[in-house]
Amino acid sequence: MSNFAERKPHAVLTPYPLQGHINPMLKLAKLLHLRGFHITFVNTEYNHKLLLKSMDPKALDGFTDFNFETIPDGLTSMDGDGDVSRDFQSLRESIRKNVIYPFRELLATLHNSAKFGLIPPVTCLVSDGFMSVTIQVAEELALPIVLFIPSSACSFLSALHFRSLIEKGVIPLKDESYLTNGYLDTKVDWILGLQNFRLKDLLAYIRTSKPNDLMIEFITEVVDRLNKASAIVFNTSNDLESDVMNALFSMFPSLYTIGPFTSFLNQSPHNHLTSLDSNLWKEDIKCLEWLESKEPGSTIYVNFGSTTVMSFEKLLEFAWGLANSKKPFLWIIRPDLVIGGSVVFSSEFVNEISNRGLIVGWCPQEKVLNHPSIGGFLTHCGWNSTIESICAGVPMLCWPFFADQPTNCRYICNKWEIGIEIDTNVKREEVEKLVNELMTEEKGKQMRQKIHKLKKKAEEDTRPGGGSYMNLDKVIKEVLLKQNQT
Ligand code: UDX
Repeated sequence: MSNFAERKPHAVLTPYPLQGHINPMLKLAKLLHLRGFHITFVNTEYNHKLLLKSMDPKALDGFTDFNFETIPDGLTSMDGDGDVSRDFQSLRESIRKNVIYPFRELLATLHNSAKFGLIPPVTCLVSDGFMSVTIQVAEELALPIVLFIPSSACSFLSALHFRSLIEKGVIPLKDESYLTNGYLDTKVDWILGLQNFRLKDLLAYIRTSKPNDLMIEFITEVVDRLNKASAIVFNTSNDLESDVMNALFSMFPSLYTIGPFTSFLNQSPHNHLTSLDSNLWKEDIKCLEWLESKEPGSTIYVNFGSTTVMSFEKLLEFAWGLANSKKPFLWIIRPDLVIGGSVVFSSEFVNEISNRGLIVGWCPQEKVLNHPSIGGFLTHCGWNSTIESICAGVPMLCWPFFADQPTNCRYICNKWEIGIEIDTNVKREEVEKLVNELMTEEKGKQMRQKIHKLKKKAEEDTRPGGGSYMNLDKVIKEVLLKQNQT
C-alpha cells in the first residue's frame, strides 16, 4: 500500500450485481480515488469472474490504493462458462437474505489487514440503494454509509409513492387487461415534483396485478431503510431534475446530486484510472474503426443496454426500420437480447445493410457515443445510457423496456425535448420515419441544439465551483470523512 503514513480515508463500495449498477458505482469509486480515498470495490464472485473473462485477466490488478474484493451472491456458483444473465427475482431474494453475512466477514478481514498495516482502516461505506442491507453492518461498526441511487431522481421519486399508490387503490391493477385498456394513461397529478405524468410514466414495477408483488415489496423495503443512511447521492444534477430535487429535499435532508459522473471524469486531469473498466461482456472495439469510415453525425447507434429482452419479431421490425431508413447504423445485439435464442438474419437483410450497417455483441458505449460519426442514439433509456448520451450531446430515439426507463423516456421526450418515443408495439415504418426525423429533419436539429445545452450545463456543474462539484465536496467532507475527524 502506498503512503500509509498519510492514513488515507478508506471507502468500501458495493454495487448491486448488474451491469447498469456496477458501471456508475465504478465511476463514483474513481471520483473518490481522485479525491484521495483508498478504495475497496466489492463485486460478487460471479461478476468478478465475468469481468476477468471479458477483459485481460490482469486488468483489475496493480492500481495503487484501488483493490477489488468479492462476496458470493448466494446463488449457484459459476463453473467458468456461465453467461451474464441472472434470474432477477432470485438475485434480488438472494441479495436480500444472503449478502449481509459475507459482507460482515469481508469487513472483518479488511479490519485485520489494516491491523497489520497492509491497508488503511475502513472509514466509510458506499452502497447501492438495492444493497441497503449493508446499512446494518455500517451501524454495527459505527461507520458512515452513503447510499448511491443509480437511477434517475424522477424515477426514485415515484418509488417513494408506492405506498400511496396502494392506499389510493391505484395498484395492484385489477387484472392484466388494465395493462392495455387505457388505464395506464390515467393522469397522476398529486405527486409533488412530477408534472404531466401518467401512470405509465411511473416506475414500471407498478404494472402488476399481484396483491403482494415481490418487486413492490422489495422497493418498499429499500425506501423504508433510506432514512438510516448518512446520505443519499444521485448521478444527476440539480439543473437536470430541479422540480424533483426540490420535492426530494423536503423529504430527505441529506440528499445530494453529484453527477453526471461521466462529465466529472471527462474533465478530471491526471485520471490514471481511465483504463479501469467494468464490462461483463467482451467489448468489440473494431466498431470504432468502422465508425471512422462514416461521415460526421451520419450514423445512428442502437443499443438496448444490459437487461432488455425482446421477441425476434420485434427485433425484425427494428432491423427493417433501420435498413429502410438508409442511414448508417451501429447496432449492439447482446447474445441474450432475443428471447429464446440466437439471431439469424436473412441474406436479403444482410445484403441490404452490407455497406452501411454493423452489428456486434457489446461495445465501449461511451467511446461510441462520443465518436464524431454518431448523430443519434436508439436506446432503451436506461439511466446510464440517458446520462451518457446527454454528456456526449447525442439526441435519442426511445424504446423504454422496464424499471425506470419509461420515466426517463418521459423526461427525455417531454421535459428536456431531446428525444422521440417509439411505440412499445414497434413497427418498421415508424422506426424508418423516426430515424429520418432524428437524423436529418428540423425536429432532430432542434433536439441536437437542446442536448448540447444540457451537455454544456453538465460540464459547468461538474467543474470547480459547479453545483455537483460542490455537492461532492460536501458529501466527502461532511459525511464520508466525518468519522476520520472525530
Ligand atoms: C439497468 C436499468 O435498465 C437502468 O434503467 C437503471 O437505471 C440501471 O440498471 P441497463 O439496462 O443496463 O441498466 O441500462 P443502462 O442504465 O443504460 O446501463 C448500461 C451500461 O452499460 C451503460 O453504462 C453503458 O455505457 C454500458 N454499455 C452498454 C456498454 O458499455 N456497452 C454496451 O454495448 C452496452
